[in-house]
Amino acid sequence: MGSINKENLKNRDVISAKDFSREELEFIFDISKEVKEKPERFRNSLKDKIISMIFFEPSTRTYQSFQTSAKSLGSDVIGFAEPNSSSYGGKGESFHDTIRIFENYSDCIIIRHPAAGSAKFAAEISKKPVINAGSGFQEHPTQAMLDLFTIKSEFGEIDTLNIGLVGDLRYGRTIPSLCYALSKFDVQLNFIAPDTLQIRPEVEEFLASKSISFSKQSDLNKAINDLDVLYVTRLQKERFVDPTEYLKLKGSYRITLDNIKNVKEGMIILHPLPRVDEISSDIDNTKFAKYFEQARNGLFVRTALLNLILS
Ligand code: CP
Repeated sequence: MGSINKENLKNRDVISAKDFSREELEFIFDISKEVKEKPERFRNSLKDKIISMIFFEPSTRTYQSFQTSAKSLGSDVIGFAEPNSSSYGGKGESFHDTIRIFENYSDCIIIRHPAAGSAKFAAEISKKPVINAGSGFQEHPTQAMLDLFTIKSEFGEIDTLNIGLVGDLRYGRTIPSLCYALSKFDVQLNFIAPDTLQIRPEVEEFLASKSISFSKQSDLNKAINDLDVLYVTRLQKERFVDPTEYLKLKGSYRITLDNIKNVKEGMIILHPLPRVDEISSDIDNTKFAKYFEQARNGLFVRTALLNLILS
């Protein structure tokens, strides 16, 4: 564990998965495991805190898990899940002023916004810690933390794993954050997507700069039997500029029982969710499907993170 302790993460912004060292990630996973196994140790540990959640885009898991985590820690939660209910959406108040107000009213701001750079901008405005709950197609760092926590929980270690990322690697914000977090470990990455949805150049360049080994391909069946982890993503319909392009690509990857006939015994399938139709529902009852456990792990990781940042 080295010299990492609770003080390293106190009052930290969570903007990019790039900003966390391997030791810090491992420390967050250790605390997340403790939250999972001994939740009573954390109950009401933030009972004098107020947490703002300002979501300018829809969410089920991120919003509800952060809210549940905050409540389990004894904090009060303020904010909005629907921007049109705020003066930002209803009266034209600026993003800047909205952040200043929530900075005044609370101890921490959790923000989701469709614009890349929004969380970073919020952190520049606010003296209170800002947590990025999804910034456009750019990043979703707490999702990456819970993804890695799930992988570590399943395999014991992350090093040496062969990880396939399939689907919309271009517009999905979980993908860059996952790659940045995995770059702290010794893994092999396989990007499986049609050319138009392949991994973005800035992510490729980042991985190359960290000497992470990766391949790019379009044929899932050629890669799937060698994988330890298959990370599936939804086509991000809301981020396509051209709707006809979305319709052309829709359904280009759909994981069925047929695809997983010869996979490794211990292979796991993850998905940040929501799922549309990219994983057939009859996969849900197989031993490979771990995406609902993954979503549940969001509770433990986000509770650990809030506790470390605010206590
Ligand atoms: N995985 C995820 O971010 O889900 P939500 O959009 O429902 O929060």
